[in-house]
Amino acid sequence: MDNTIDFRKIAKQHIELEGFMAGFAKKSNAEADAAKSLEEIAKEVKACKECSLWESRANTVPGEGDSAARVVFVGEAPGADEDKCGLPFVGRSGKLLSDIIGAMGLRREDIYICNVIKCRPPGNRDPKPDEIASCIGFLKRQLDLIRPQVIVALGAHAAKTLLKTDKAIGRLRGKFHDFYFDDSLPPIKLMPTYHPSYLLRNYSQESRLKVWQDIQKVMAELALEVPEKKK
Ligand code: URA
Repeated sequence: MDNTIDFRKIAKQHIELEGFMAGFAKKSNAEADAAKSLEEIAKEVKACKECSLWESRANTVPGEGDSAARVVFVGEAPGADEDKCGLPFVGRSGKLLSDIIGAMGLRREDIYICNVIKCRPPGNRDPKPDEIASCIGFLKRQLDLIRPQVIVALGAHAAKTLLKTDKAIGRLRGKFHDFYFDDSLPPIKLMPTYHPSYLLRNYSQESRLKVWQDIQKVMAELALEVPEKKK
């Protein structure tokens, strides 16, 4: 048996391992930077008085989740429950969204959840165009920092705002669209689907199946396995 130690081979393995670990360090530094910048945005949101919604809010609701998420869910605006605690999707529609995320085999902390606008419109009315216009910069910066593989736009407001279209959600859902920050950056795949609160109001087999079909397309894009019981 040849007992000579091949130092060149060991040195090569060492260099390869260092490169591998450095790659990890770089990624986690980038993730830490993104998390910090998301916190910066949350601070700015908290101080924001760009539209009149600051007058009636109890809390701002900037968003929460993983700064390195592969998928970001974007809703419309906080409701009463979210306004109370400053977190997105915690009420009834939030419970349904958590069930959808669970059905994907994910946990809420694996993804990022936020809204087009960060303050509750009084009485849960629709956000006004000027409110969206003054708030959209926050969402764009959040998406630009996270750079997810897929964005899921929950409901008509999120889909129409991000895709700059007037088409109905029923026509937009079911297929991927390109979301562009600007022409210099590659687009991100965006899947529009029905908002959880629409599903709660129309809790039919048909509407639930449509959302599940949309979500399955997102899962295929993320190479996530459909959990056994949902197959
Ligand atoms: N509906 C939304 O669109 N967002 C929330 O955070 C809660 C309800």
